[in-house]
Amino acid sequence: MSKASGEKKEHLYKVLVIGDGGVGKTSFIKRYVHQFFSVHYKATIGVDFALKLLSWDSNTFIRLQLWDIAGQERDGSMTRVYFREAVGAFIVFDVTKPLTFQSVQKWKSSLDAKVQLSNGQPIPCVLVANKCDLPKEGVVNNKHHMDEYCSTNGFLNWFEASAKENINIDESVRCLVAQVLDNDEANEWAKDSELVNTTEEFKPKKNTSGCC
Ligand code: GTP
Ligand code: MG
Repeated sequence: MSKASGEKKEHLYKVLVIGDGGVGKTSFIKRYVHQFFSVHYKATIGVDFALKLLSWDSNTFIRLQLWDIAGQERDGSMTRVYFREAVGAFIVFDVTKPLTFQSVQKWKSSLDAKVQLSNGQPIPCVLVANKCDLPKEGVVNNKHHMDEYCSTNGFLNWFEASAKENINIDESVRCLVAQVLDNDEANEWAKDSELVNTTEEFKPKKNTSGCC
């Protein structure tokens, strides 16, 4: 959703943060929005929200609505409702728990099945390998393998991140938002050209008889 005020453009984007329980989704959001981190774990119930106001550049202002979906919701019936109208997503896993990486594909499949862009394409998704301040286990140690995994599974990119140490949190968000903006612009462009075509189609035929 976007609106232009003079030269400035304002956007409201719904972005999902999903992944297994305890991987650090809430911590990722709290770090990004409030510059805050807590070691205490309180599982999210259902869904939580946060809003980040972002001056992207001198012409672009973004309201980023972050939907923090509880890990336990993966097999629940509500995800279809929660995912609706999202334009981007983060899938988070815990680098110390390879099982949470195995779930990434399930989250991605569920995401792609339940929400698409208006042109039918999957919404852009960034993979966040969280808790990189701790010793890593499994595939995440192999950068080449992770790069390959991302391109095979349709991820925009992946980042080793730490909500605790504030590593790559802003970078992950910038990567996703840049793509969301690109998609939005392409969409507006497509709408505009559709409008031109429609106007062409309905252009009144030249009146040759001189009579209306
Ligand atoms: P659910 O709400 O149950 O889906 O979990 P969640 O993904 O929101 O996890 P949450 O952010 O609540 O974090 C779970 C635990 O991991 C908490 O104890 C956090 O302090 C801890 N944690 C989160 N991020 C990091 C990190 O980057 N490094 C370390 N060391 N711990 C982290
Ligand atoms: Mg949570």
